[in-house]
Amino acid sequence: MEEKNLEALLEEDRQFIPSEEFHKNALIQSADIYEQGQSLGFWEEQAKQLSWLSPWEKTLEWNPPFAQWFVGGKLNASANCLDRHLQDWHRNKAAIIFEGENGDSQVLTYQDLHREVSKFANVLKANGVNKGDRVTIYLPMIPEAVISMLACARIGAPHSVVFGGFSSEALRDRVIDAQAKAVITSDGSFRRGNTIPLKDNTDIALDGVDCVEHVFVIQRTKQTVQMKEERDLWYHEEMAKASPVCPAEPMDAEDMLFILYTSGTTGKPKGVVHTTGGYMVGVSTTHRWVFDLKEEDVYWCTADVGWITGHSYIVYGPLANGATVLMYEGSPDYPNRDRFWEIVEKYKVTILYTAPTAIRTFMKWGPQYPQSRDLSSLRLLGSVGEPINPEAWMWYYKYIGGERCPIVDTWWQTETGMIMMTPLPGITSLKPGSCTVPFPGVRIEVVDSAGHPVPKGGGGYLAIKEPWPAMLRNIYGDPARFERTYFGNWPGVYFPGDGAKWDKDGYFWILGRVDDVINVSGHRIGTMEVESALVDHPSVAEAAVIGKNHEVKGQALACFVTLKEGIEITPDLEDELKKHVAKKIGALARPDDIFFTAELPKTRSGKIMRRLLRDIAEGRAIGDTTTLADASVVNTLKANYQE
Ligand code: PRX
Repeated sequence: MEEKNLEALLEEDRQFIPSEEFHKNALIQSADIYEQGQSLGFWEEQAKQLSWLSPWEKTLEWNPPFAQWFVGGKLNASANCLDRHLQDWHRNKAAIIFEGENGDSQVLTYQDLHREVSKFANVLKANGVNKGDRVTIYLPMIPEAVISMLACARIGAPHSVVFGGFSSEALRDRVIDAQAKAVITSDGSFRRGNTIPLKDNTDIALDGVDCVEHVFVIQRTKQTVQMKEERDLWYHEEMAKASPVCPAEPMDAEDMLFILYTSGTTGKPKGVVHTTGGYMVGVSTTHRWVFDLKEEDVYWCTADVGWITGHSYIVYGPLANGATVLMYEGSPDYPNRDRFWEIVEKYKVTILYTAPTAIRTFMKWGPQYPQSRDLSSLRLLGSVGEPINPEAWMWYYKYIGGERCPIVDTWWQTETGMIMMTPLPGITSLKPGSCTVPFPGVRIEVVDSAGHPVPKGGGGYLAIKEPWPAMLRNIYGDPARFERTYFGNWPGVYFPGDGAKWDKDGYFWILGRVDDVINVSGHRIGTMEVESALVDHPSVAEAAVIGKNHEVKGQALACFVTLKEGIEITPDLEDELKKHVAKKIGALARPDDIFFTAELPKTRSGKIMRRLLRDIAEGRAIGDTTTLADASVVNTLKANYQE
């Protein structure tokens, strides 16, 4: 975010204090909770809310950068999400209310979900998936995605969910990196009335990959697919034969629960490793308190299970808490632009958790869509994925929340596993655009490059000073990268890669990434990944990718490309390059702008000066060019870009 935007943000002095009504009914009513959070005993207390097969011996073992939580404790994540809710009337409570894009719907009670998960766990076991084997899941937003994740957790096979919008190449890289033994996919997925061929993508991804023994195929779109003899199995056929009894495997608190790939500063995505005990404690506690969860809530998180938000706040957190989770398969504008509000009205959703990019899109469409529906069931709103600008915050507050629902702006990451900064809606005064303060038991500061806290009112880098239960434990197969990336700046202190300011009240204002990661519509995309995809094209010699400010997406990809000798710029080439990137990574990485240039601005040591490219792309006055090897490059670029 630009400095001038930030100054405007910090002048944001509107405050919204919790209403008396909300406060007196809230789960957390006293700020004493922050005091309690200062001792490790706080996390022990929260851990006791889960069901353990054997107790832990030590709460935290911290050998920076490696943490172990609840050492020696045994539990199973799927049993915590399912079995323990079967004791009483809860077994007939809706666990998942599913709304398909085409209007089909399905309700799975906790008992139903337990049965389906147990059956699929048996299917996996019968087909050679054992404790410790990795399973890649590549599915649309259908209940089987949750069933697959929990079935893996039940038998102790770590899952690696790959977002269904990723390309076959992205899927292939992730399958190989995890050395997955099985893949779970579907024939296809619905998207705005079209279908995406997930099984075909999987076939291309697995061509020549020898670690995968079986592919389980769920029927969703009923499109024609090729089933490879011996390797491929229909989910419904296997389920028909499976027993519904499958005891949950006792897992060590530090056994791996899942791997989730995310973008970093190099071209190779990082396999973020989360383990069982601490993760479950972190996500269940935060889910309960941040969303002020009540028994009768209908909770809807609009993320996809392919992202960490889906893992922590569609699956593990809410189900561990016995919540009713609404799951929607499709897009917000299919068949109409009021689809979200139609769903809120239809199921009387009480809690809605979505992303700023979605809110800005709704703003653009206009308030008539939410206004045409009854949204009076809503009582709490959430935001995640990128900074929410005060204007979008106010719109969300007014048109969706009817000026009665608090908004919890939650800051966290794939790596943190759980929400780290957020209001507690019964006690925290809200400032539009600020994610307010760290969750109890979490220590975050704004520091300078030496790691020293800056005075309140100042800006610098976010730093997480102490380990927290749901923190990532490693990068799969690459502990050196783990240490370098997250703990390389200041020993023992976690570096999230975000810039931030804190104001005089200690409220945090996130400025965005300070590394080569671009946040497009709340999705993390590495500049290097896009650059590699571009130079993979036969016409491209060199590419530099930057994130430029975008009204709806937050940031958009702008690419500066030099072509190989003798290649002509044709009107089709721009489109071809955009398609090429989408094919290599996925539609989410399709660039907004491609700009052809004879040369890229570089320092004398050969580093591309992205800061200057950003200035050019956003039409700003160009900053300092004294370190440039050839200053004329920038002037030529700028002149051309403005044409
Ligand atoms: O820059 C921050 C931004 O998203 C990054 C994490 O992305 P990812 O791992 O994909 O997880 C997104 C969902 C948890 C962060 O480093 N970010 C996330 N939430 C916020 C945010 N920036 C500002 N405010 C937020 N509430």
